[in-house]
Amino acid sequence: MAARPLEYNISLNITNECNQNCIFCKANETLPKMEKISKENFLKVIEWAESYTKAKDFEFCGGEPTLHEELIDFIRIAYRKGFNLRLLTNGTRLRKIAKDLKEYNVSVQVSVEAPFESLHNRIVGRNSFREVIEGIKEALRIGVDVSTNTTMNRLNLNHVLETILFVRKLGIRKHSINYLVPNPANLEHALDYKTISEMYKKIRYYPDIQGIVITTLNPIPKCIGFNDKQCSAGISCTIEPNLDVYPCLFTQFEYLKMGNLAEDTPEALMESKGYRIFRELPHLPEECRRCIYLKECKGGCFCFWRFKLLKPCDVRRL
Ligand SMILES: C[S@@+](CC[C@H](N)C(=O)[O-])C[C@H]1O[C@@H](n2cnc3c(N)ncnc32)[C@H](O)[C@@H]1O
Ligand code: SF4
Ligand code: SF4
Repeated sequence: MAARPLEYNISLNITNECNQNCIFCKANETLPKMEKISKENFLKVIEWAESYTKAKDFEFCGGEPTLHEELIDFIRIAYRKGFNLRLLTNGTRLRKIAKDLKEYNVSVQVSVEAPFESLHNRIVGRNSFREVIEGIKEALRIGVDVSTNTTMNRLNLNHVLETILFVRKLGIRKHSINYLVPNPANLEHALDYKTISEMYKKIRYYPDIQGIVITTLNPIPKCIGFNDKQCSAGISCTIEPNLDVYPCLFTQFEYLKMGNLAEDTPEALMESKGYRIFRELPHLPEECRRCIYLKECKGGCFCFWRFKLLKPCDVRRL
């Protein structure tokens, strides 16, 4: 067996199909529709992960991964290989598969976009709130490790704290909050870094939040605000059903493609332009290049620069 030179955490998109239509999601815009991973390709990913990476964690993602008919079969295979398993889901089919998830010790993250029906449904483009909440309750009841996630955007910004209290009441003990990562189709819903930073601060110092662990997931440029998170692109990778590899879940643009897992060597993926961008950061301005925090800050999220939510005059060298 080959050496294990790669540090990737692996997130596998097993299908681009989805039964929702979230206002921010790349599944609606940038990804080819209805592409599903075949069992043959799934086995190639597992073999690759075992042979060439140090990954212990394996994440099933999408699109909506629960729409893939072979999901539980795939989970069983990965479980027997000894990976810690995680499933990211919109929760609409959670009720049906909760028992299997318990059996294979899968940690589940469910997207809850608002603390009440009308807003959640508006954000996800489907009347799914009730089935999602029922799914969460059932999974918790049988002992599945369930956490929730909210993607902060202009529509739900004023309800983020309320959402935390809502999911805590359901019995959730881990909740994460990420911000909308911009793409060309979702800019009208995007937040700027000052607003994000203020909300992250409020969450950190909100006195009523006890009994639930809150994780604020994404980076903020250090000169604008504070969040001790780094962009995971360049550390993680995301794999598409056709085995194309990208640096992260939200950067599935042709010019960032690292290569294809079946066609390119692991070294070629590491040396690809798409991957080097996240190590060499050519998109950052002089202010960042000469800043002492560059290594830990990386200038925040690449997509904020790419889609012009950040300009050189927004950052200042520290
Ligand atoms: C791509 S979805 C896939 C799994 C599943 N369909 C779901 O909705 O949870 C994984 C997570 O990414 C979030 N997400 C989708 N588009 C995003 C974006 N542009 N910026 C930030 N988060 C996003 C979703 O809210 C969800 O929590
Ligand atoms: S975020 Fe998840 S549920 Fe929403 S459209 Fe994207 S893949 Fe579907
Ligand atoms: S100047 Fe650039 S590297 Fe320095 S803290 Fe600001 S965003 Fe980060």
